[in-house]
Amino acid sequence: MEKDSDKGFVMNVVLIGFMGSGKSSVGRIIAKKLGKRFIDMDDVIEDKASMSINDIFAKFGEEHFRDIESEVALMLAEDNNLVISCGGGVILREKNMRALKKNGMVFYLKASPESIYRRVKDDNSRPLLKVKDPLAQIKQLLSVRELLYNQWADIVIDTDSKSLEEVAEEIMKQINKID
Ligand code: S3P
Repeated sequence: MEKDSDKGFVMNVVLIGFMGSGKSSVGRIIAKKLGKRFIDMDDVIEDKASMSINDIFAKFGEEHFRDIESEVALMLAEDNNLVISCGGGVILREKNMRALKKNGMVFYLKASPESIYRRVKDDNSRPLLKVKDPLAQIKQLLSVRELLYNQWADIVIDTDSKSLEEVAEEIMKQINKID
């Protein structure tokens, strides 16, 4: 992370973490508090492709989705004064995170497989979780990704047993420490 020392404030706030960790809801709260623009990376991807994420996966496969995701990550990293809620898989490509980190402070919203499952079980917008045993899938994906989330995070925030407001407050505290 490179700090803009003249302005005394990191440019973008970048939220990473597994699906259902609260990135978008928390992102909206802190964007309001900070007077920054909120961007949901998945929405930008859907706009760019003119189709839903489910359809991108179904028609073109995951690799194609990851390519669009990288384009969007690199594009957003060039902008500033944003709060960016990243897709859960953004950490899978190093170039995404290198770009986002240059101009942003990265928060990992950490959640246990069980609380993730509770939050996503009634939502069918996530192609990777449309499997027979979503909890096992969450555990499997997390076991691969956990290391990457931790590796790229400037700050890790435990979200289990916290409300969205409490998570947002914790992020604000961390930002104010640096400011
Ligand atoms: C994905 C997470 C999703 C979305 C896509 C793939 C992943 O975003 O980008 O379904 O690989 O973890 P959210 O984390 O916002 O649900």
